[in-house]
Amino acid sequence: MNNKKLVFSGVQPTGNLHLGNYLGALKNFVSLQKEMECIYCVVDLHAITVFQKPSELYNNVLETTASFLATGLNPDKSIIFNQSSVSGHSELAWILNCVSRIGWLNRMTQFKDKAGSDKEKASVGLYIYPNLMAADILLYKATHVPVGADQKQHLELSRDIAQKFNNDFDCKNFFPLPEPLIPKNISRVMSLRDATKKMSKSEESDYSRINLKDSADEINRKIRKAKSDSQQIPDNIKLLENKPEALNLLNIYSEISKNKLEAVVLEMAGKEYSFLKTKLAEILIEEITPIGKELQKLLKDKSYLKTILQKGSEKASIIAEENLKNIRDKVGLI
Ligand code: TYM
Repeated sequence: MNNKKLVFSGVQPTGNLHLGNYLGALKNFVSLQKEMECIYCVVDLHAITVFQKPSELYNNVLETTASFLATGLNPDKSIIFNQSSVSGHSELAWILNCVSRIGWLNRMTQFKDKAGSDKEKASVGLYIYPNLMAADILLYKATHVPVGADQKQHLELSRDIAQKFNNDFDCKNFFPLPEPLIPKNISRVMSLRDATKKMSKSEESDYSRINLKDSADEINRKIRKAKSDSQQIPDNIKLLENKPEALNLLNIYSEISKNKLEAVVLEMAGKEYSFLKTKLAEILIEEITPIGKELQKLLKDKSYLKTILQKGSEKASIIAEENLKNIRDKVGLI
């Protein structure tokens, strides 16, 4: 068995990337590129499972690429490319559609959330989306997948598909079972308006999230308006159990300041939430606005961004083609 470690992850180009994407995924992408071979993909085929205006999709693919670079991904170290430029993703997805089971897909909570009350009207692509995600990972025989907690169930499905393929085609260990790398401290950044929901690109109010492109003023305003609690900050984490908004702000503060939540709660105990908000806005501005500025700069040179994607696709295609040859062979395709 090949013991080579390989990281793969993807981000949908569906609009502004936000603090959830950054703390749940991108920050990890950057630290992993120092230790392992990494492939990072702008998953445009996933994005079109919900209708995207073609001109917006085009710009969003470039903007997501720019966000990868602005947060610190280095195209000389990591492969950065867009999914649709390597046709092996679609081909393997079809093969895996025939391995994956309808019962497995029926359990996917994200489909239920995204399809809403009228499932009949959702695209077939949205339903089989997790099989394409498995194809993304298995096409490169990736061993590690950095994601936020919301993708955990999809990762478990990818492992089930890999295992079933290995059993069905009698090729033990052909596909490694990919391991999720989920941040321990803050695996799910919650909405600033309603902390029972995750921070997301699709929530209507822009006040619910901090975008990587936000200015210092916008970050200040959003943190000041964020829901918190009318009481003072308690001295014990247990007392925050029923205060999801307060806990979310403290968790973000703990992650960005690189201090344990317990230490942050002790530091803030007895203070008003306005005190926490002032400090949180300060460190967020320090961390996020340089990324936003770099992002805006990169967006001015679209041909550079396209070259990055093109070079990345060339490198990704070489690995994908080699693996696909073996996959076709295992399945008995001539
Ligand atoms: P996407 O585009 O929704 O999100 C990109 C990454 O950001 C993480 N994330 C969060 N983490 C913490 N808190 C949040 N509020 C938050 N919101 C988003 C996501 O967990 C993800 O890691 N299906 C995937 C994209 C994908 C993929 C793949 C990922 C396609 N193929 C293969 C890994 C491997 C998605 O829609 O992510």
